[in-house]
Amino acid sequence: MPAVNTKKKKVEKLPAVNTKKKKAEKPSTVNIEKKKVEKPPEAGEKHIRTYIDGFDVLCKEGIPVGNAILVEGGPGNGKTIFCLTVLKNMCERGKKVLYMSFEEREERLKEHMKLFGARPEEYEKKGLLYVKRFNALDIARSVEALLSEAKKELLIEVQPVLIPPEFQPDIILIDSLSSISSAFSGEESRFRIYMEQLFRYLESHKITSFLIREVASPAHIGNNSSERGEAVSFLSDGIIVIYNVFYKDGYRKRACEILKMRGTDIDRRIIECEIKKGEGIVFYPDRPLKGDYILT
Ligand SMILES: Nc1ncnc2c1ncn2[C@@H]1O[C@H](COP(=O)(O)OP(=O)(O)O)[C@@H](O)[C@H]1O
Ligand SMILES: [Mg+2]
Repeated sequence: MPAVNTKKKKVEKLPAVNTKKKKAEKPSTVNIEKKKVEKPPEAGEKHIRTYIDGFDVLCKEGIPVGNAILVEGGPGNGKTIFCLTVLKNMCERGKKVLYMSFEEREERLKEHMKLFGARPEEYEKKGLLYVKRFNALDIARSVEALLSEAKKELLIEVQPVLIPPEFQPDIILIDSLSSISSAFSGEESRFRIYMEQLFRYLESHKITSFLIREVASPAHIGNNSSERGEAVSFLSDGIIVIYNVFYKDGYRKRACEILKMRGTDIDRRIIECEIKKGEGIVFYPDRPLKGDYILT
């Protein structure tokens, strides 16, 4: 590595050079600036870390507590595994996690988690994990009932019927908003009302959430077609996209980008990621995508 002395460049580069010797002037401000870039942010009262390998450095200040973050991507891209990795990392550190599944059964999900090193039964014993499968149609029906009772659609207070009152989580994972949305088919405005209530509830209870949303053709890579349940993009505080990358010479990779994260500066590159047995999803911030590829 050439030892060029350009202070600013060091800040832009991600795997920055260690500069312990530089104690000279204004040590505090200069060092703090650099630490933010070199190391993932510490978890504090106001921010959380995911502890996913290579991910946290992408959010410079960390993920603000209470953010509602969409995890988007096509089928099989790794959205569920991203959330299961968050679940494992949080429970291992004593945080309380509620996993709300509208797709897979509880038992299947737990088996799935174990492949990535999670210990769901132990977390449950410690009161740190609650995995529950819900039926999206039940939610659609109860929202409908509440709405017809209230008559004036905009004034109702829909309780987020799906959050069990006896479990107060730090983190909620929902798999997926797309399943909830399909249960409201033809009733986009009801889905929107329900989502507004849900987002408000999460925010007021300072619950950080990762909400999976399956998108067939991601609008953010230049598609104009509108997706069902699009309203949630505007309501969310963050959007993480997991891509299936197709290279013209015939092979595939996985990649990820943070499209939006309120309350923090983000790294805006599309980088490689991978699903590893025993570990879950891992990110490679030093491997931005290159070459002739298509994102799907
Ligand atoms: N144990 C495993 N080891 C490695 N890769 C896996 C494992 N289980 C699933 N995968 C990969 O993860 C993909 C599914 O990821 P998933 O998170 O379920 O996708 P989705 O985005 O649809 O939720 C599969 O297509 C498979 O390639
Ligand atoms: Mg899934």
